[in-house]
Amino acid sequence: MDQTGQGRLAVIIGGANGIGAATARLMAARGWRLAILDKDGERAGEVAAELGGHGFAADVTDLPGLEALAARVEAEIAAPYALVISSGTFQDPVPPDQTRPEDWDRIMRVNLDGVFFAARAFGAPMARRGGGAIVAIASIIGLGGTPLHAYGPTKAAVINLAQSLAGEWGRAGVRVNAVSPGVTLVPRVLARRQAGARYAGDPGVHTALGRCVEPSEVAETIEFLLSDRASAITGVNLVVDAGWDAARGWAMYGGVRPR
Ligand SMILES: NC(=O)c1ccc[n+]([C@@H]2O[C@H](COP(=O)([O-])OP(=O)(O)OC[C@H]3O[C@@H](n4cnc5c(N)ncnc54)[C@H](O)[C@@H]3O)[C@@H](O)[C@H]2O)c1
Repeated sequence: MDQTGQGRLAVIIGGANGIGAATARLMAARGWRLAILDKDGERAGEVAAELGGHGFAADVTDLPGLEALAARVEAEIAAPYALVISSGTFQDPVPPDQTRPEDWDRIMRVNLDGVFFAARAFGAPMARRGGGAIVAIASIIGLGGTPLHAYGPTKAAVINLAQSLAGEWGRAGVRVNAVSPGVTLVPRVLARRQAGARYAGDPGVHTALGRCVEPSEVAETIEFLLSDRASAITGVNLVVDAGWDAARGWAMYGGVRPR
């Protein structure tokens, strides 16, 4: 088996579901030890039990809580080498005057403050120890305009934050990267599509490859960036979108040429 994890400990925040849980499964198979953190502590415990890891309830909007947990993980398990920040909250594509201030605040708190707080709580000790790797999950929605008027700006900011922190901690041996998935078929997305979420048809139609992204494909990219195979890569935003960004300009020519 490919043991790229080398028994190192990875903390996965938002690891109870979706992309975070898929990443946890792949990393367990690659020889990483795992601490699964999530607001849904019960589900985090279930995923951790399935993978022989440790599960904790954690809220990314609570900086003192994260710092206490970082100290606890180091004391009770090991010093984390890797951090994945996959927690996220979402919104409907509504006009600005229907974007409620409470939704704006919730999205900023979880998707932007939360990423900074998690990186700060776990990344600063990594830098003091002299090594580590961090991946924050951004989104293709951060690459340009969409009707997600709160979600989009948080994701653009996460891409910028990964660059800032890469410069901050690079000399201390900590790499920091962003991963921007396209529409990824996690259970939450599949349920929303079944419930008739507002996409113009199948979102896969707008990509070069003509399909959406599988959670395992995002997980592969995250694990690569955390491993020593990516030892010279820091501050990048790796887009995993089946060619959505590449094919955007085709819209004014009627879409990507059919086969
Ligand atoms: N699925 C997609 O199509 C897609 C596309 C682009 C980017 N993303 C991003 O990927 C990340 C994961 O999304 P997903 O689709 O796997 O979603 P998901 O809902 O399946 O998983 C998100 C997890 O975050 C946890 N969480 C929410 N708020 C939290 C908080 N305050 N503290 C700790 N944990 C919290 C949830 O409990 C959940 O387990 C998000 O940042 C999302 O914006 C997803």
